Order: sequence, then C-alpha cells, then structure tokens
Amino acid sequence: MAAFAYLGLGSNLGDRRRHIARALRMLGESGRVTVEKLSSLYETEPVGYTEQGRFLNAVAAVSCDLPPLQLLHLCQGIETRLGRERLVRWGPRTIDIDILLYFDDFAGLGPTSLARPAPPESPSPPPARDDEDLQIPHPRMWERGFVIVPLAEITPDLMGPDGRSAGELARDPRMREGVLLRMAGPWWLDDDRVEEVACAQAGCWAAGLCWDVLRFAEVDSTNDVAKRMAEAGAPEGTCVVAEVQSGGRGRMGRVWYSPKGGMWLSTVLRPALPPREVGKLSLVTGVAVTEAIREAARLPAMMKWPNDVVVHGRKVGGILVESRWTGETLDYVVDGIGVNVAVDTAALPPEVRCVAGTLVPPSDPEGAGLRERLLEVVLDKLGLFYRRFLSGEFLEILEKARVYSDTLGREVEVEAACPGGRLLRGTAVAIDADGALVVETSSGDVRVLSGDVTVRRAGGGYSGRA
Ligand code: BTN
Repeated sequence: MAAFAYLGLGSNLGDRRRHIARALRMLGESGRVTVEKLSSLYETEPVGYTEQGRFLNAVAAVSCDLPPLQLLHLCQGIETRLGRERLVRWGPRTIDIDILLYFDDFAGLGPTSLARPAPPESPSPPPARDDEDLQIPHPRMWERGFVIVPLAEITPDLMGPDGRSAGELARDPRMREGVLLRMAGPWWLDDDRVEEVACAQAGCWAAGLCWDVLRFAEVDSTNDVAKRMAEAGAPEGTCVVAEVQSGGRGRMGRVWYSPKGGMWLSTVLRPALPPREVGKLSLVTGVAVTEAIREAARLPAMMKWPNDVVVHGRKVGGILVESRWTGETLDYVVDGIGVNVAVDTAALPPEVRCVAGTLVPPSDPEGAGLRERLLEVVLDKLGLFYRRFLSGEFLEILEKARVYSDTLGREVEVEAACPGGRLLRGTAVAIDADGALVVETSSGDVRVLSGDVTVRRAGGGYSGRA
C-alpha cells in the first residue's frame, strides 16, 4: 500500500532540535516511512499548559506503507526511545509526534529525499478517522499556530474544514501569535555542527522573524501599502514587495525613483520600544542591507551615515523608517528598503543620476536572480539583527556600522534634519552609542542625530545628495 501523511513534531525538553532530527531519522530507518517534505523549524509558545518552556515544532510530509494505527505505534515507539514520559497532559516532552492527516492509497510519489523533496499536491480535505486511540485529522490541529504555520509552509493549498486553505489560515494574525523563530535547512541533520553549518550557509538561521511576503506588480509606495496593512492589523513580519513604485518616497521628503529592476520592499514591525530607541532601527536595517549586498552580490557595499548604502561611492540603496504612535505607545513601524539592483540609472533625473549607482546593469541577465537572492538575504539578516537589537545587542550592530562606514574620518557637510536645520562642516569623527554622528567642527564637536551627509571627495567638492 502507498499512503501519505502529515506529521507534527514538537519538543521542549533538552536538545530540542536534536530530538526532532533524531525522530525524523528513526522514522526513515524504520524502512516504512519516507520523509518527502519538511517545514522549517519554528519556536513556539506553549499552548494549554503554559508553565513550561518554548517548543520547537516542525511538520513533515511523509509517504509510508503502514496503516494509520501501525504508523501511530511506530511514532509512539520512537517517542519512548527518545525518552518521552507522559506525566502531565500537554506538559513538557522530549518529543511528540502527532499524525495530523493521513491519506490512503497515495500514488505517484516522485523521488524521495530531503535534498530533493517531491511535494505532494493534496488540495482537498482528507478522509476522517476516529479509532479509539487515534483521531485523524488531529482534533485541534486547525486551531494551532504551531501546526498550521509549518503546515502552510509545505502545503499552502491544503483545505481546512472551514473552507480556508492552510496558507490563508497561517496569515491570520491570531494563528501566528506565539510562533516565534524559524530555522530553514539543514536543521534536520543529527549533528552538533548544525548551527555552525547553518550560519555559514548565508542566513539559514532565518532566526529573526517569520516573514509573510506579499508581492505586487505596482503600488504607490510599499511603505504606504504596509502602513495601510498595519492599520488594518497586519502582524509583525508582513512584508510588501513591488516591482515598481509610482510614488516611492525617500528621506527628508524626497522622491524615490523606483522603476523596474529595483528591490522595493517594506516590512511591518511591532517592537515594544520607547521613542528614543526607535530611531536606531534605521541603522540596524542599514547594517542588514549592507551585509546582504556584500553577501548576495559580492560587492564592497558601505554605509554612508545614517543609512545610505553605497558601492564605489555611488548610492545604491536607502532606508525609510516610519512609525505610528498612540501617545508614548508605539503602534507599529514600517521599515522601507530600496536597492537599485539592476536599474537603468541613465534614465533617472539628472540630480539623482549623478549620485546613484546600481548593483548590476539593467541588461545583466543575472539581474532578476540577484534581486530574488538579495530579497531573501536581506530578510534573513534584517530578522536576525532586529531580534538581536531587541535583545539588547545594539552595540554589536553599531560596531558593524562603524566597520562598514564610508563616512567616518571624512570631511563632511551635514544638513541636520531638525526645524531650521543648520549646515555643518567638519570631520566625521565618531558614531556614538545612540547612533548619532559626531562632527568635529571649528567650534567644537557637534552630535547629529538625524540628517543628511555629503562627503568631501578627494580633490575637493562635496558629492551630491541622492
Ligand atoms: C532614502 O531617501 O535614502 C530612503 C529611500 C527609501 C526607499 C524605499 S523603497 C521601498 C520603500 N517605499 C518607499 O516609498 N520608500 C522606501
């Protein structure tokens, strides 16, 4: 017989990732089950009995030649071998393997390996079973974010009992509540070096956030779309990407030209931060984008204070962070990022053209691929640095901003962004612990918290503003 099932795996005791990885290996070693597709690994808040540690959860799509009860016994045997004790209902456990859904006589599976999974298409609700020991579908699965979010990742079109697909359910903010971290492959390796391997593989620890990426052909401004969505309750991690912006906005009220070939995106963040901390987010984002360009495009990207991204002295990217407050309470932040990936800079207005750069020429056949790769790395890095920032690691991120700085040590002209903002000339000597630029002028050091910098180039004159 050929059957197909979705298994939910969870652990909140000991080496949680390793327990789940071992359970998957043991399923495979039984010779009766093959893992066809595997979700990322999610860290989730406990549900039901909440006086216990966070879980790691994943969902696996498996093919098997076992009837449901025998599959259950196999899973229970693995749970026992991995040290599971059933003391408290919904209590802590080394490993939990639930049969979520089971389809009989599933035919036509393709090649079976983790490296090359064959995603099964199973869009309609599976048949229900109700044996004494086993209820399928699992009775609470459609209400649980820790099941639905990973399930939707591997089979977004699977229909739930209320006619909504797993993908639709997973976008519901209530479903995402308490679903915190995410690690993409190769988390399933039963190996001590996994974290190391994962980090080395450019953002495999997509540990920061679960991004929900919504793509548009053309919008006015992704920041405006993200704001409207945030107002309507979109959760943290919502990410709006557009091919073209007809009304792209830059810092200090400027227009941001956003033709095809660029990466225009905005994310919704909902950090619990006091007002003076929020400004630091633009620096955190600048570091993420700079590193992402270095990694994805292999170009020597640098940061021009506060957060322009430049390559060979030309501005290739900018960041616009906007927030909404109710009194002293931050409602949301929209973090907008624009990068000229393969933009025809010659077609930009002259005042922009003279300072703007692009990562690759618009004719480069690799341009589209680079844009996708960059988006992925930017989101991984942003999620990671954002989490670090919220855990109090701003100084470490600031250190990176100093290393990547194209401004420090340079003669600069600064237009401070404050009412009646004055023009300063001097040397950029430091970026202080608040992220402010310290400029040494003829009348002493001046701290600038927000503003616009032009750098004096060798041979005299200041580079223009983009
Ligand atoms: C700057 O002036 O340097 C900031 C530019 C920010 C542009 C991005 S593109 C995506 C997002 N949507 C906007 O309208 N602006 C930001």
